[in-house]
Amino acid sequence: MSERPTLVTDAHFRYLAERTVQEDKLLSDLKAAALAAGIPAIWIAPEQASFMQILLRLRRAKTVVEVGTLAGYSAIWMARALPRTGRVKTIEINPAFADFAEQWIRKSNVRGRVEVLRGDARAVMPRIRSASADAVFLDADKAGYPVYLKEALRILRPGGLVMADNAFAFGELFSPDPQDRETRAVREFNEIIAKERRLQGVIVPLGDGLWVGVKR
Ligand code: DHB
Ligand code: MG
Repeated sequence: MSERPTLVTDAHFRYLAERTVQEDKLLSDLKAAALAAGIPAIWIAPEQASFMQILLRLRRAKTVVEVGTLAGYSAIWMARALPRTGRVKTIEINPAFADFAEQWIRKSNVRGRVEVLRGDARAVMPRIRSASADAVFLDADKAGYPVYLKEALRILRPGGLVMADNAFAFGELFSPDPQDRETRAVREFNEIIAKERRLQGVIVPLGDGLWVGVKR
């Protein structure tokens, strides 16, 4: 082993993606229906979902809070890693996305384990009890992440897990002229979470970069 890590290429990502849990028919049907409904195709990658399930299982998570339901894809993946009595509380501001997600959650094998909370996470998160969650997954508007992280640290139990999507800013992290206006927000959030002393965190290079942190 040298100090320099192996350069991971597209081939490596394909290789590892082929060697972990695959999406089932319900989830691929959900994606096709979401595309047909005009929902943006910004769901997490299956290999990222698999990694998140592993973390939730290791944590023996029972209660998960998600910020940004979108089509319900990640909520269903996460709920499948919880015990039968577990709950994913997933927050969605867009009523059409919330309707879509609820419809597909009902068709899934985890229908009793996912609850869609409608509204702005800035208003919904403060209603969730302190130290009541085993994991929080942030995957919403990037400008909101600092506020969501603050709430996440309150909601989480000690030893709880924070995951935050899009640390690589949709591939624009190093772009000198980012096209996406959320790129700056991602860069700012990456500095904030890197310095957060209540967490031990690291960016895992799966999907578009996943922050994983544990609450001390
Ligand atoms: C975008 C948002 C996401 O959460 C994601 O995973 C990928 C892309 C976006 O806003 O473009
Ligand atoms: Mg995302």
